[in-house]
Amino acid sequence: MRTLYILKQDRVVGELRAEDTQPSQYTFVYSAKASEADFVSLTMPPLLQSVWGPRTKLHPIFDMNLPEGERRLYLERAARVAGADDFTLLQAVGARQIGLLRFVTDPANPRAKVTPLNPQRLQNIERGLEFFESVFKDLALGSGISGVQPKILAATEQLLNGATTTPGTLITDSHILKRDRDAYNGMVISEYLCTQALKRANLPVVHASLSEDGKLLILERFDRRDGVALHFEEFCSLMGKSSLDKYDTTYERLVQSVQAFVEPETRQRAVTNLFRALVAYRLIGNADAHLKNFGVLCTSFDDIRLAPFYDAVCTRAFEDVPPTITLQGKASWWPHEVLVRFGRYCGLSTGDVDAHINTVCDAVEATLPQVDAAGGGYPDFAPVAERMRVLWVHALEEIRTKRRKPQRPALKYPRRRRRLRTLGPGS
Ligand SMILES: Nc1ncnc2c1ncn2[C@@H]1O[C@H](COP(=O)(O)OP(=O)(O)OP(=O)(O)O)[C@@H](O)[C@H]1O
Ligand SMILES: [Mg+2]
Repeated sequence: MRTLYILKQDRVVGELRAEDTQPSQYTFVYSAKASEADFVSLTMPPLLQSVWGPRTKLHPIFDMNLPEGERRLYLERAARVAGADDFTLLQAVGARQIGLLRFVTDPANPRAKVTPLNPQRLQNIERGLEFFESVFKDLALGSGISGVQPKILAATEQLLNGATTTPGTLITDSHILKRDRDAYNGMVISEYLCTQALKRANLPVVHASLSEDGKLLILERFDRRDGVALHFEEFCSLMGKSSLDKYDTTYERLVQSVQAFVEPETRQRAVTNLFRALVAYRLIGNADAHLKNFGVLCTSFDDIRLAPFYDAVCTRAFEDVPPTITLQGKASWWPHEVLVRFGRYCGLSTGDVDAHINTVCDAVEATLPQVDAAGGGYPDFAPVAERMRVLWVHALEEIRTKRRKPQRPALKYPRRRRRLRTLGPGS
């Protein structure tokens, strides 16, 4: 049997055990003293059950940060665990993870060694690819983060508050570095521009910047607040699914899941933002908004909020396929009336739906000059920028709620019925 200890803030809250049967059987057991606050997943409360499993697939929360696609193959080779199972990979990348959980074999020695970067350096990277390669070897194995795009978790060294009297530094896992892939040249610039469109639409969205050559996207981590780790859980895990099933849902089910998990105070705002984000994804041509691209942040069961939006890309400019997840039963590029029906499903009045759609349209339209500028500024991005412009302009034409025909203004004074003067009888 193999064991991994699950840590929250350096404290063991439970053990994940793998029985070496065929196939492996995974069981998670909470520590005897685990309290409600020691939950590893919002779907696995310790007070409800202390033993979760056995099961033949990793529990969704433990599968959540495993690398996918080519990145997984690379890491398997780098960790010399080729052909091994999910558990071995989790062991290889588990000491530094997105969210609050960490997975280690030796709880007495839980901290992964990491070379911090200078935060000012991150703001001024000329050659992104070169920079990425220079830090990649050091950081790749300590990067417990999912997704297909090549990426690493970067730590930065920051001056402690009030460092004038007590000199010192604090190392925080503060950034994600995401690099372009040859097969999808321009993807990170596209993601940067789409993020700007969402920001203009007043949606909470990840803070992103680009290296000077446009090959590296520098993302600020939202699962850290003042250097303290927050629990983050993707909807794939919240809906009890593993990464392979990230497309196996509908957007209506995603709304229901948001309603089930997000605290009442921010629930309707979260659903409204989700509606606006999907309108934005329709306009910018993002077909890849699967269940791992939405999540919640939380400090306790009573404080669960929708995380900022992330991984917004104009996938259409690279491969023109429609979303596979259905909205109001449709898996095509949704027409205007489908978005309106979905807005009503999200609890909005027709007037509010119209207003939200048009605000998002204005934001996307206002980002077009930035798309053009990126096409001019990064020569090999020019063809992608051109495709993005054409797609966005066309989508705006299809989706913007046309002004309703102005109705005849009401008459100020009701017209009096003309009284016919008739001659009285006998006249
Ligand atoms: N700013 C952020 N802060 C914290 N976690 C993040 C942030 N951005 C992304 N993540 C986490 O990292 C994962 C991978 O990031 P992202 O979706 O951007 O990668 P990707 O390779 O483009 O994914 P995909 O395979 O969907 O294309 C997300 O699913 C989420 O769990
Ligand atoms: Mg993603």
